[in-house]
Amino acid sequence: MAQRQIKLGAFIPLTSQHAAGWRLPQARPEQHLSIDYAIELAQTAERGLFDAYFLADGLSVNWSHAASKEAQNLGLGDKVVGFEPITLFAAISAVTKHIGFIATASTTYEEPYLLARKFASLDHISKGRAAWNVVTTVASEAAANFGTAHPDAKLRYQRADEFIEVTQKLWDSWQDDAFIYDKTSGRFFDPDKLHEPLHQGEFFHVKGALNVPRPPQGYPVIVQAGQSEDGRELAAKYAEVIFTAQQDLADAQEFYRDVKARLGKYRRHADDLKIMPGVSVFVAKTQQEAQEKYQLLNSLIHPQVGLGLLSGLAGTADLSQYDLDAPFPELDPNLITTSR
Ligand SMILES: Cc1cc2nc3c(=O)[nH]c(=O)nc-3n(C[C@H](O)[C@H](O)[C@H](O)COP(=O)(O)O)c2cc1C
Repeated sequence: MAQRQIKLGAFIPLTSQHAAGWRLPQARPEQHLSIDYAIELAQTAERGLFDAYFLADGLSVNWSHAASKEAQNLGLGDKVVGFEPITLFAAISAVTKHIGFIATASTTYEEPYLLARKFASLDHISKGRAAWNVVTTVASEAAANFGTAHPDAKLRYQRADEFIEVTQKLWDSWQDDAFIYDKTSGRFFDPDKLHEPLHQGEFFHVKGALNVPRPPQGYPVIVQAGQSEDGRELAAKYAEVIFTAQQDLADAQEFYRDVKARLGKYRRHADDLKIMPGVSVFVAKTQQEAQEKYQLLNSLIHPQVGLGLLSGLAGTADLSQYDLDAPFPELDPNLITTSR
């Protein structure tokens, strides 16, 4: 049997992944916009043989329920601002060699031509280490930053499907050997190796070609994290990696089986898609120290931030009307907004 190797991704925002990580005495929250610190984190991950460094992203301040509205008004959430991932990875790629870069970008609010161009550039700059975490942007707050209404989930996924199709066509604009640099004839490229996508679809009309040569990887690695029916289908069609965050083994196994079973429909092999479940690891010299660290971190979560996180997990807009010290309530179905 072929030897299989575990793939490791580091999912580390500059202020830490844990909601209260930045409040630990040794944490350096003031460095959350420090390129030197970002480089230190990525180089540490590379030294530790991680395959990829992942940066989540959103397009509004209150994008992830990491902070409830109240928490934000009190200035509590730490995951509300940060570097734009593609820009940051371009800088980090110059001082690393092997680690891959998974940058999150939205198919709802970006344009295929602009995004295909940015990822093609990142793939060239990093010498083939770029990956795109395709998100449809759940947080409706983003719409207000684009002068538009937030499309419903179904429509967002339809657009995502065509969006990826267009970006792939754009990445195929130039054949790998299109550039010939023939000083004698004066031909920089071979026009037979240039293909305009001429895409006419439901959401996009894009003539092309892309004004960046074909990325070294062909296509940057497509990563996806959708959990819904449409999200799973999109992953089965295009993704090489899918992130999941199931909270128990049975759910995780069900998800794995379900997503892998969908690949055949797209003439793909089950191994063409890697499933990477998220785990939070608390590291210390002994188990007891790790346990203490875990407890300390959790004790530092501000109740309003915890409430915001719980609201996000419960799929509701706002749990603040419930008593913090009472047992978890029966939720009013009118508050549940998971179907977005
Ligand atoms: C590990 C993980 C990371 C995610 N990162 C982001 C992100 O950076 N930005 C974002 O808008 N959504 C992010 N999401 C949300 C997903 O893109 C997706 O919207 C969510 O899992 C719900 O799936 P659904 O839209 O198919 O219902 C992430 C989800 C997971 C599980």
